[in-house]
Amino acid sequence: MLKLSGVSRRFGQKTAVGNVNLSIAEGEMVGVIGSSGAGKSTLLRMINRLIDVSDGEIAFDGLAVSGLKGQALRNWQRDCAMIFQQFNLVPRLDVLTNVMLGRLNRRNTFASLIKHFSEDEQLMALEALERLGIAQTAIQRAGTLSGGQQQRVAIARALVQSPKVILADEPIASLDPKNAQVVMESLRTINEDDGITVITNLHTLDTARNYCERIIGMSQGKVVFDGGPDDLTTEVAREIYGADGLKDAFSESMTSTSIDLEDGARKKPKNTVYDPQEGFVTVN
Ligand SMILES: Nc1ncnc2c1ncn2[C@@H]1O[C@H](COP(=O)(O)OP(=O)(O)OP(=O)(O)O)[C@@H](O)[C@H]1O
Ligand SMILES: [Mg+2]
Repeated sequence: MLKLSGVSRRFGQKTAVGNVNLSIAEGEMVGVIGSSGAGKSTLLRMINRLIDVSDGEIAFDGLAVSGLKGQALRNWQRDCAMIFQQFNLVPRLDVLTNVMLGRLNRRNTFASLIKHFSEDEQLMALEALERLGIAQTAIQRAGTLSGGQQQRVAIARALVQSPKVILADEPIASLDPKNAQVVMESLRTINEDDGITVITNLHTLDTARNYCERIIGMSQGKVVFDGGPDDLTTEVAREIYGADGLKDAFSESMTSTSIDLEDGARKKPKNTVYDPQEGFVTVN
């Protein structure tokens, strides 16, 4: 259980996140939506401790995450993998090494310094790539991959951290519709099959509706909605995005994951399966 109690973050006079209270159970798939500047990234970054809270407490299974320091903080950041819009890979390094970098904070400093990865670690990284359907790219430089492939490498890197929670900050915002769909399906399958809690910021309403069992709507640093996709009516969406923003949230959705998905499909699209050899494959 991840619990946020009265969490706030201020930047100078600006309150980016104000008095947020949330409980997220193990294994939930949560989408966080809201207009630009609503505080979505700040919220995720506080959970991962990339930034500190100004007030309040974040706890995970009783551990006060918001106060951790040193090794305990690094352990938390290992348990709480982060995926970014811009993938954050090392472009000059090959794909397999990029994935194995996810193991670094599980090892001692010396082993990390010499960047020598054990056979087990190499195997683990390869298996993660296989799961994401991109094992064939293992020896390519990460920078030569398409955006969709790079994001899958980033997810594989997160997986080898053996995380308890995956935080994704607009993981599909830079991807075309097809790749956006593949990446969201990957996240959901990991959530369902491994029971890893996934919290993802999303720009568009329909993506949140299609993939997340729980949606949190933010506006001006506050949580203004917390419920299931069916509770997210146009009325509620207007409150989250404002009348003007709503137009954008919907028009953007035309270019996102709505394409290729059956109308109203929210559960794993029936035709996507995980095959140990092929990774995520679509069967007809
Ligand atoms: N490091 C910072 N210094 C100053 N202000 C910041 C900083 N980070 C965020 N803010 C401000 O906090 C508010 C929330 O920003 P945040 O990035 O969390 O929003 P967001 O919902 O992720 O927006 P977007 O959809 O554009 O990514 C914004 O007003 C932003 O300008
Ligand atoms: Mg953001």
